[in-house]
Amino acid sequence: MTFPGNPPFHPTPRQLSGIKRCVFLLSLLPFLRLVIFTLTDRLGANPLEFISRNSGDWTLYFLCITLAVTPLRKWLQWPWLIKLRRMLGLFVFFYACLHFMTFVWFDHFFDLSEMFRDVIKRPFITVGFITFVLLIPLAATSSNRMVRLLGGKRWQWLHRLIYLIAPLAIVHFWWMKAGKHDFAQPILMGLIVASLLLVRLVSRVRQRRQQKRFIKISPI
Ligand code: HEM
Repeated sequence: MTFPGNPPFHPTPRQLSGIKRCVFLLSLLPFLRLVIFTLTDRLGANPLEFISRNSGDWTLYFLCITLAVTPLRKWLQWPWLIKLRRMLGLFVFFYACLHFMTFVWFDHFFDLSEMFRDVIKRPFITVGFITFVLLIPLAATSSNRMVRLLGGKRWQWLHRLIYLIAPLAIVHFWWMKAGKHDFAQPILMGLIVASLLLVRLVSRVRQRRQQKRFIKISPI
C-alpha cells in the first residue's frame, strides 16, 4: 500500500528486531492470560473446558494470521513481513500443542490408549488429530538448517501442506460446533480461511503465468 509521497515502510535491521520482539510478546499474551486466569481462579465454572476451547481458538487465529502474511506483504508492499512468518507459524504449533495437551491431560489423564480410542471414536477429534499431526513436519522443518537440508523446492512442497491443514482445522471446528447447532463462528472462520487460501492461490497462478510469458519472450 503506497500513498503519493509515502514510500513503503522498510525497517532497519534494528527496527526489524524490535518488531520481532513485539510480535513475539504479543503472541504470548493469550497464553499469559490463561496462566493469570488459572492462578487467580478466573476460568469460570468449567476451567478445563475454558482452557481447551481457548487454546483451540488461538490455534485457529494464529493459523489465519500466518496465512495473512503473504497477501499482506504484497498488498502493503512490505516484503520484510515474511521475516515474521516463521515465528507466527511456530505459534500456531505452540497453541496446537497446548490444545492437544489439554486433551491428553485433562480429558484422559495421560492414558494414551484411551486417548487414541477417543480419537478414533469421535470424528471431530479424529480430524483435529490429523490436523495436528500434519503440523508437526512444518514445525520440524521451520529452521534455516532444515530449509538448506531439504532444498528450497522440496521444502516449499512440504509447506504446501498448509492448504490441507487450514481446511481440516475448519472441518474440526465446524464438526465440533455442529453438535450444538452453532454455525455462526465456523462459517465466519471458514470464510476467512477460504479467502486467505484463495488470494494465495490466485497470486501463485498469476506468478506462474508471468514466468511462462517471460520464458516465451526471453531470447535463448
Ligand atoms: C491444529 C489443530 C487444531 C485446531 C486448529 C483446533 C481448533 C479447535 C477449536 C477452534 C475448537 C473450538 C473452540 C471453541 O469452542 O471456541 C476446538 C475444540 C476442541 N478440540 Fe481442537 N483443534 C485442533 C486440534 C485438536 C486436537 C489434536 C485434538 C485432540 C486430539 C482436539 C480436540 C478438541 C476437543 C476435544 C475440543 C472440544 C473442547 C471442549 O468442548 O471442551 N483438537 N478445537
